[in-house]
Amino acid sequence: MDNNPTPTQERVLSGMRPTGALHLGHYHGALKNWVRLQSEMSCYYFVADWHALTTHYESREVIAKNVYEMVIDWLAAGLDPNQCTLFLQSRIPEHAELFTLLAMGTPIGWLERVPTYKDQQDKLKDKDLSTYGFLGYPLLQAADILIYKAKWVPVGEDQASHVELTREAARRFNHLYGRETDFEARVQASLAKLGKDAAKRLEKSRKAFQEAGDAKAMEGALGFMATTPLLDNDERDRLAGWFKGTGKAVLVEPQALLTEASKLPGLDGQKMSKSYGNSIAMREDKASIEHKVRRMPTDPARIKRTDVGDPNKCPVWQFHKVYSDAPTQAWASLGCTTAGIGCLECKQPVIDAILKEQQPMLARAEPYVSNPKIVRDIIDAGTDRARATARQTMAEVRTAMGIDY
Ligand code: TRP
Ligand code: SF4
Repeated sequence: MDNNPTPTQERVLSGMRPTGALHLGHYHGALKNWVRLQSEMSCYYFVADWHALTTHYESREVIAKNVYEMVIDWLAAGLDPNQCTLFLQSRIPEHAELFTLLAMGTPIGWLERVPTYKDQQDKLKDKDLSTYGFLGYPLLQAADILIYKAKWVPVGEDQASHVELTREAARRFNHLYGRETDFEARVQASLAKLGKDAAKRLEKSRKAFQEAGDAKAMEGALGFMATTPLLDNDERDRLAGWFKGTGKAVLVEPQALLTEASKLPGLDGQKMSKSYGNSIAMREDKASIEHKVRRMPTDPARIKRTDVGDPNKCPVWQFHKVYSDAPTQAWASLGCTTAGIGCLECKQPVIDAILKEQQPMLARAEPYVSNPKIVRDIIDAGTDRARATARQTMAEVRTAMGIDY
């Protein structure tokens, strides 16, 4: 799988469930990556409140409380509403419309076989997840992605199977309902945009490819189409489909942009998760951060101050690896293995580094915390932008399915 997209304006889409304050695991695992992508591609990030309902349909207040709080966490991390589009899923009913239409042709077995289906049911035993919504939610996720024709979906390994299902759903839709009806006319319009000479060259290469299998000709032509500033991404896809003779598909197959797993574990060394009670929130207050880090378990062999320890058996060391520079790491490692420092001493630079990392986040969050109206305005504007794209895709989908009567 190609995980190195070139810096074009290809579309990126991802979402998060608003089920609690975001923690440092979210920040190091996902958000830092989202922030980096916003300056490289056209990024759409949304609050997946319907997805949250699939597991929290009995505790909606959790969701209501966290929708805008989560957006503040995003802004605190450095997402910039002028660079990316931030929106709220439940305000865009087109997601539900596409979900419904995709559902018609999606075999139930596809959903039952998604590994998260059984895994989550086993894990979240206190909830009744034998619901239609829970079974269907990866298809809702497919609709979230396909409705924006996103090329890239930054997610963790645990979500890779959902992106795979999305690709299958797109392929099936394209197979069943096919291709653009006004394909030829649009191709001619794009060729005209490129000018006579370029169009002639492309026609020639296309012939060489389609009639004689000239791969070099195809490579050259696709390279040209991918980089010419005269075309937008939609036109590039269409011309590529014309070149290869496949036509232009209505829905675009996305790819997972797998996020490297966060190197930051939870306070107890397990994966950081609010439900395990081992997390530090991105905007947690200072006293609480100090308290939590001081109480972190360490190498169990260090019972007395004079006992030597092994950093590799200590979650604090994992924090040093994320937060400390080389000299501090050397100090901690030597101090641990020689009993030269105590564990509280060892933890202090970690506390300082977390507080320091938090400073710019708190500063960015402050105007939104004191004036939540701005957050709502950001989401309103982003939702308008996203909805225009979603409406456009749905018009194409309805036409392709022949339900635009
Ligand atoms: N299912 C994702 C999660 O639980 C959230 C999500 C919903 C999502 N729709 C998406 C992620 C679309 C990426 C793309 O974390
Ligand atoms: Fe962990 Fe540091 Fe204590 Fe060693 S000295 S056990 S690395 S906290």
